[in-house]
Amino acid sequence: MAVALSRRLVGQPAAIAAVVPYVEMYRARLTPEGQPAGVFLLLGPTGTGKTKTVEALADVLHGSPKKLLKVDCGEYQMEHEVAKLLGAPPGYLGHRETQPLLTQQKLSAASSESCDLSIVLFDEIEKAAPTLVRLLLGVLDKGTLRLGDSTLVNFEKAMIFLTSNLGARDMSHELRPEFGFESLTPKLAPRSDPRSGANRDRKLDRIGRTAVRKNFSPEFINRIDAVVTYQPLDSEALAAILNQQIEDLQAHIDRRLGEQAFRIEVPPRSRKFLLERGASAEYGARELKRTVQRYLIQPLAVLVAGGEIHVGAQVRAELGPCKGKLVLRNLVQHALASAGEEWPPEQSLIN
Ligand SMILES: Nc1ncnc2c1ncn2[C@@H]1O[C@H](COP(=O)(O)OP(=O)(O)OP(=O)(O)O)[C@@H](O)[C@H]1O
Ligand SMILES: [Mg+2]
Repeated sequence: MAVALSRRLVGQPAAIAAVVPYVEMYRARLTPEGQPAGVFLLLGPTGTGKTKTVEALADVLHGSPKKLLKVDCGEYQMEHEVAKLLGAPPGYLGHRETQPLLTQQKLSAASSESCDLSIVLFDEIEKAAPTLVRLLLGVLDKGTLRLGDSTLVNFEKAMIFLTSNLGARDMSHELRPEFGFESLTPKLAPRSDPRSGANRDRKLDRIGRTAVRKNFSPEFINRIDAVVTYQPLDSEALAAILNQQIEDLQAHIDRRLGEQAFRIEVPPRSRKFLLERGASAEYGARELKRTVQRYLIQPLAVLVAGGEIHVGAQVRAELGPCKGKLVLRNLVQHALASAGEEWPPEQSLIN
């Protein structure tokens, strides 16, 4: 399970080490009664894989990263919005119309035939209205939640993940001097020195925990099984994530285009180009994702839409003659297009 998770979630061994024992405990039916199967608070800088962890777990357990019940706490910042989670009590206005989000049925839909453990994600918990935090406290404490119509939802077969950006600003301040964009160009920064890395990790962890203590009550924090602070991704992790994103792109092309599918090839020099552009201490792998979209996926989409890539073609993304571009070349035909800085696409087609 740890191996399957680490194939999807790169460079965050502490998160995997925290979660796996709880899943094993659940599978062995040894989880204590009257509480969720595990409660985790995931902290750390943006784009380091907090949400991805939960999606990866859903993928490993249930075969799809979407098999989870997600509550975007940003949508429940006002007290009255929290009612949407529970539904209105009978007799109240809107009782019939409101479909509560946290029903037993929806919880079961976040599990699968192969595993009955539901994955529940409360994303960006710091944005939640105090009522939602109180309500959650009850769930963490008793493993149950009473809905507006008085039915009881049982969370004993659920694993709850809370993600938060608390302390993230102080963390990025801590990181900037040693892991700025500058330090990654023109050559990618090497893996950080383990000693200074461990020191930095401890500092980030302390920042995260201090911010959590300021924002949440001790009872709330006490009911969390593990608090994990995510580490900034180093050059090696980002390179692995890029490889993963290119593989995902190929899988997506194969799935979506079916018989019209083609192969995409990104040689090492082009990968290095994407990494240099997409490495960001501030936005983690998010910036890398945007870079892949801009330099690879968008130009590719233009060619597909224009019918310029033929069935079974092999398209190679090469470094262009001028800096700041990738040239998409059909290995069977000639140069197809170049794209990059000079978007929109009309200017970049060079047939
Ligand atoms: N450790 C990682 N391993 C693999 N992919 C990652 C990792 N971190 C980030 N990514 C990629 O970057 C995208 C954004 O990551 P994710 O949504 O997990 O960030 P986050 O830590 O939840 O950030 P935020 O605090 O902004 O919500 C993911 O969809 C994934 O493609
Ligand atoms: Mg997130």
